[in-house]
Parts: sequence; structure tokens; C-alpha cells
Amino acid sequence: MPVITNVDDLKKIYKRRTPKMFYDYAETGSWTEQTFHDNVNDFADIRLRQKVAIDMSGRSTATQMIGQDVSMPVALAPVGMTGMQHADGEIKAARAAEAFGVPFTLSTMSICSIEDVAEHTTNPFWFQVYVLRDEDFNRRLLDRAKAAGCTTLVITADLQILGQRHKDLKNGLSAPPKLTLASIANLATKVPWGLEMLGTKRRFFGNIVGHAKNVENAADLGAWTHEQFDPTLDWKRIDKMVKDWDGKVIIKGILDVEDAKRAVKTGADAIIVSNHGGRQLDGAVSSIRILSDIVDAVGDKIEVHIDSGIRSGQDVLKAMALGAKGTYIGRAFIYGLGAMGQEGVTKTLEVIHKELDMSMALCGEQHVDNLNPNNLLIPKDFKISEAYDF
Ligand code: GLV
Repeated sequence: MPVITNVDDLKKIYKRRTPKMFYDYAETGSWTEQTFHDNVNDFADIRLRQKVAIDMSGRSTATQMIGQDVSMPVALAPVGMTGMQHADGEIKAARAAEAFGVPFTLSTMSICSIEDVAEHTTNPFWFQVYVLRDEDFNRRLLDRAKAAGCTTLVITADLQILGQRHKDLKNGLSAPPKLTLASIANLATKVPWGLEMLGTKRRFFGNIVGHAKNVENAADLGAWTHEQFDPTLDWKRIDKMVKDWDGKVIIKGILDVEDAKRAVKTGADAIIVSNHGGRQLDGAVSSIRILSDIVDAVGDKIEVHIDSGIRSGQDVLKAMALGAKGTYIGRAFIYGLGAMGQEGVTKTLEVIHKELDMSMALCGEQHVDNLNPNNLLIPKDFKISEAYDF
């Protein structure tokens, strides 16, 4: 077993082990992938400010996200089809998160169902919801999440339609994979993945199949989304969802100051500054570049979290120093999961924790809550309101 020292090591193993169609699904952005790449590159443009001869003993990355204790401010983001990256993927990722003391968010488009994940975990997890045309299904879905003990609802606001990802169309992405000449040739080189998949019954969209009317086969994510996701979702509907949910609510997919202000009015507990990992509006700004403007506008009224582009503890540090109260990793944990199952997700979390802890120390900070813009060197035109007419 190679020595794993960073998330990229896990990504290499993940790539070797996983069918191309699912690797490509995770490792893609929409259209030209400009925003997908900007997310990562813009984090890299920020430099850390070293401080020496400061007592670095007694450090802690522990804090809270929406009032919940976390061992570090890094939640697992909802990722569709996680159970195709590794057999029983959602259960394994949830168990790793639970043991590490960070939140796990289950996607509506998961392979393992809400009930299945609840049965295999102890602590409440968070549930991400997509709004479908079928009102009855929406109601039952939220009732099921409640019954399974989910405390926190994450409402995705940026995906009534699916941004076009060329690779998924070319690969004929589906869960389980459709057997074509190309997919069979590729699957033949992924034997351990295939054997584990044959050993589980969890191979379909567990929250959907058998629960939504007339859906026996939701295998083709693109086509299914097009038919079933509700394009009329608007703020009024989100207001109502926030009001109706008896628990905490997070609104995911905010990338604009006016939208952030509107989200505050819903009464939600947090927003996630996010461009969906560069998978929706290609050409949109990166999350890290718009973060300060959103924190300036609403940071004293609502918790501001961020996802899209976070691959390291240094990235977490940068986001927290710019005012985020929590961060999410999607691809970074998928790399670990695809590489080594539950152990791989734990490895991702350990790597990120160590990077955060040590970089914090070298920046002269002992506690993650004390990180601030003075820990950073930020390019002059980085902030969107200063770089563009706003
Ligand atoms: C779904 O959320 C996706 O980005 O594929």
C-alpha cells in the first residue's frame, strides 16, 4: 500500500479503481469547465501569512457549525451517486464522518436510502433535498428524513435543471451502469469495484426508486432530472420549506449578494456559498472570490458556509480566514471513498485536519475561530466587488 500523504494520492488510486463513467461524473464541471477550474485556482492565488515565535501549543480546530460541535469546520457535501463510487458508499462515508466528528450530508440522489444510512449510523446526519414536481413525493421525502432522525435540511437552490456535463453525455452515465461495448471494456479493468458492487443490493437511487410514482428506473440522471425536478422552485417555495421543517435549515447554492440577502429573509440558519462545484453555471465566479462580499453583506445575520474548490486544509484555512463559519468537501472525500472505502474517507479527513492544524500553527493561530483576513495575502483585485462593476 503506497504511503498516502495528501488528497491527490487518494485521487490517483480512485482513478485507477473506479469505472470511468463515475470518475468522470465526479471529476467534471459543466461546459468549458472554466468555473470548475477557477474554484481551485482562485484558492491557490491566496497566500498564507507566516508568523514566527508564537506559542503554538494547545491548538484546536474544534468549533461549531449551526450550533453543532465539529472536530473541524469541514462537513461532507451531498454528492449524488456516491454509492456508485464505492459499494455502499453513502453508509461508509457517513460512518467515517461520524467517527471523525464532522457532519455528513446525504443527497436526495444517493444510492443508499435515508433509512439505510440511518440504520448504519448512530448520530443524526444532514439531508439535502431537491424539489421534485411530484408534491406527494416531496412531502413523503421530508417525512422520511424526519423519521430517520435527520436534524438539518440542506435545500439546494441552484439545480432545477442540470448544467450540461459533456463527459456524462458521452459516457452514457447511469446507475447502475448501462452495459455498452465501451462500458463493458472499461468495467473489465475494474474487477475489485465490480465484485464489491455485486456483493451489495444498493445499486439504484435508493430514495427514489420504489418511492416516486411511475419511477421504476431513474438510472439516467440527466433525463430523469429533466423530467422530474421542479423548474418552478422559487423563493416563496423555499420560505415555506424553511418554515415547515422542524429543525435547522441550510440553503445551498448562493453566489450573489442579493440572493444572500433574500436567503436571510427565509429564516434559514446558514447559507452555502457555492457554484455546485462548477457543475451548473459555467462562467460563474468561484465561491472563494465572492465569499467576502457575501460575508460583508449578511455575515452578521446568518452563518455563511462555503463549498466548491476545497481540496486541502490550507483551503479550509483560507475560507475560514475570509469569514466562513464552515466548509464542505465533495470531491475530496469521493477520492478517498473511491480509493479505499470508509478507510479512505477517514484518510481524507485526517489529511485535511493535519494540513489545517499545522498551517494554522505556522500562521501563528491557535484556534480555528481566530482565523481572520490578516492571516492571508490576498491579490488586490481578488474581491469581486472590487474587480468588477457590481
Ligand atoms: C448533482 O447534484 C450533480 O451535480 O450531479
